[in-house]
Amino acid sequence: MKIVVAGTGYVGLVTGVCLAERGGHHIVCVDVNSEKISMLKSGISPIYEDGLEELIKKNNDLNRIEFTSDFESAYGDADAVFIAVGTPERSDGSANLDYLKSAAKTIAENAKKDILVIIKSTVPIGTNEQIEKYINKHKKENIRIEVASNPEFLAQGSAVRDTFEATRIVIGVESEWAKEILLDIYKNFDNHKLVTNRNSAEMIKYASNDFLALKISYMNDIANLCEIVGADIEDVALGMSFDNRIGSNFLNAGVGYGGSCFPKDTKALHWLSNSNGYELKTIKAAIEVNEIQKLKLAKKSSDFVESFNNLKVAILGLTYKPGTDDLREAPSIVNIRYLLERGAKVVAFDPVGIDNAKKIFGDTIAYVNDIDSAILDAEMCFIMTEWEVIKNYDVSNYKKLMKRPLVFDGRNCYKISEMKDNGIEYYSIGR
Ligand code: UDX
Repeated sequence: MKIVVAGTGYVGLVTGVCLAERGGHHIVCVDVNSEKISMLKSGISPIYEDGLEELIKKNNDLNRIEFTSDFESAYGDADAVFIAVGTPERSDGSANLDYLKSAAKTIAENAKKDILVIIKSTVPIGTNEQIEKYINKHKKENIRIEVASNPEFLAQGSAVRDTFEATRIVIGVESEWAKEILLDIYKNFDNHKLVTNRNSAEMIKYASNDFLALKISYMNDIANLCEIVGADIEDVALGMSFDNRIGSNFLNAGVGYGGSCFPKDTKALHWLSNSNGYELKTIKAAIEVNEIQKLKLAKKSSDFVESFNNLKVAILGLTYKPGTDDLREAPSIVNIRYLLERGAKVVAFDPVGIDNAKKIFGDTIAYVNDIDSAILDAEMCFIMTEWEVIKNYDVSNYKKLMKRPLVFDGRNCYKISEMKDNGIEYYSIGR
C-alpha cells in the first residue's frame, strides 16, 4: 500500500518513520512547511527525539520513505492517509480543528481512488464522523472515502520506543473495509490491537491522557497536604506503588504537568463535557490543582526576600520534562514571568531547551550552558526540570557559588539531608 502521513510534527514524523522501519508499505510524509521537508530529505530531523534521525536516514537510503510538499501527487494514488496535524487549544479550552479541516479538504480535492483517512490527532469525540461527512462533501471523484480513528500514545523523548513498544494500537472503525486496511497497515506490529467504534477510540485517547493528568494532580494535592502534616511524599508514593492496582508510574509530585498534551487534553475534555451539559468535576479539579502547583514555589519564595527587584535568580531546567527540547506549557514559563514581573534578573540553564526558550523570552533573561554559571552569585535558585545533569550535580557548589544558597526544587532532585549537611536552605515538594 501507499500510505501518506500528513503533518511532520512529533506524531506524524514518528508514525511515518516507524511504519517505514517496520516495512511492508511505501510511506510518504507530506507537510506544508517546505523548509522541514528539505531537512528531512537530507536526513535531518527537525525535532530532538532519541533514535529518530538514524531511522530517517536509514529509511531514506532504503527508499522506504519519501518527504514532499506536493500534496497532489501524494494523495492522488494513496491507499490510506494518516492525519497527524495539531489540534491546539482555543482560548475557551476547546480544540481548534482548523488544521485538521484544511488537511481533510486537501485530501478530498486530490484523492483519485478509494482511500481510508486515519485521524491520529487527538480530537473531540464525534470529530471522525464530522470529518468523514466533510470530506465526502468536498471530494472531486466518485470514490469511497471513510475516516477511521487511530489515536497515538507516544510521549516526547521516548516517541520511537513508545511507537514500537506501544501498549496498544487502538483502531476505531465503522466498517470491515476500514478495519482490514488498518490491520494490514500494522501487520508487522506485534502489539495488542483493540478494534472499537470511532467515538470510543476518540474517548480512549482523552480518557487515558486525562487520567494520567489526574494522577499527577492527585499526587501534587497529597504532596501539599504532606507538607502540612509532616509526611514525606516520596515515601508515600513508594508505599502506594507496591499496590499494583495503583502502579508505580506517574506518582511523582512536582511543579505540575506541562507539554503539548495534558494541559490541552484536560481542558478540551472538560469543555466538551460542559458543552454536552455535563460537568467533569474530577478533570476540573485536576486542571485547578495544576495551575496552582505550577507557581507554588515561586509564591513561597517571596516570603524569603524583601523584594525581587534586581535579585539574581537562577532557573535550572526550562523544558516541560527531561529528554525533550520542548517548552510548551512548561512550568518554567509561568515562573520566569512571575519573577520578571517583579524585577528579578533571571539566568537560565537547560541542556537542550535554550533555543526554544529564546523564542519565548528573547533577551529578557540570560542563558548559560552550565549550572555553575547559572548559580554563580545568585540569591535564589529554582529547579524546574529533573535533567540527569541537575540531579547529579555536586550540591556543595550551591553553597560555594551562590550569594545566598537558597534552593527551591520543583522536582525533588536531592536528598533533604544532603542539602542540609551542605548548609543549603532547601525547599522541595511534599517533604
Ligand atoms: C503524554 C502521555 O504520556 C502520552 O501517552 C500522550 O500521547 C501525550 O502526552 P508527554 O506530554 O510527552 O506525553 O510527557 P509525559 O512524560 O507524559 O509528561 C507530561 C508531564 O507530566 C510533564 O510535564 C511531566 O513532568 C509531568 N509528570 C509526569 C509529573 O509531574 N509527574 C509524573 O509522575 C509524571
